[in-house]
Amino acid sequence: MILDQKPVILTVAEKTVHNDVYTTLFFDFAIDFRPGQFVMVWLPGIDEKPYSLSYHSPTRFGITIEAKGLFSRRAADLSPGDFVGIRGPFGNGFDIISSPHTAVVAGGCGMAPLAPLVERLHPDLFFVHGARTHEFILFPDRFAANRHITTDDGSLGHKGMVTDLLAAEIRRRADQGTPPFDRVYACGPEVMMHAVFTLCDVHGIPCQVSLERYMRCGFGVCGACVCSDQVVCKDGPVFDSKQLKKMPDFNRTALLKSGHAVPLSEYVSWRCL
Ligand code: FES
Repeated sequence: MILDQKPVILTVAEKTVHNDVYTTLFFDFAIDFRPGQFVMVWLPGIDEKPYSLSYHSPTRFGITIEAKGLFSRRAADLSPGDFVGIRGPFGNGFDIISSPHTAVVAGGCGMAPLAPLVERLHPDLFFVHGARTHEFILFPDRFAANRHITTDDGSLGHKGMVTDLLAAEIRRRADQGTPPFDRVYACGPEVMMHAVFTLCDVHGIPCQVSLERYMRCGFGVCGACVCSDQVVCKDGPVFDSKQLKKMPDFNRTALLKSGHAVPLSEYVSWRCL
């Protein structure tokens, strides 16, 4: 079912507290969905925010919350039986190709929209996930695919950047005659996605990244989420290499809630919040 533009009131069916950072709320509701799409989550009297679906099955979906703002703390405090307004799903989602020569690069809770994608990709994909520290590695035990971990502080896996491992794997494939990647998918901090995009561009590898901008309507009417000439909620949030090359605001500028454009460093990410 498509919930569309009016919120449907759903009951929290189950709640999983992954750790002190991340919580997932599950809803027993059938929703047409493509990995990378998002829903608008409404807590009456508080606000409405976009969340990527982090779990999806024919009868259930889940959203994962990083509790650090007012809205996200309230959402993470919800319990089974509590009510939430949901609109969507919105956006385009990722193109799914069935190839063992794909790579997925996640940064922090950018893992949330990538998780249902990973479950639909070839199991032999190259999969790397980076975060500040080990606590911010989301879903550490969820996937059959071998996941390479990086942390900024070295508390888990490789100490350094996800692009260190992606670049090393691109080199290894070239040196050993393994076919190059057909596609790299990325989601995480925009500076990380830009680094992935640049690395892929140098090596002629198509990539898709999931951008985020402040969102109000979620379906292309209000203009709150514009990035260059693209409406992120409707044209995206997933953009490919060709589109990103024509988006000068990528990794540079974002609109605040007021509509004022600021450098990306002054924009607070909503992803998982
Ligand atoms: S959120 Fe309104 S146009 Fe995108």
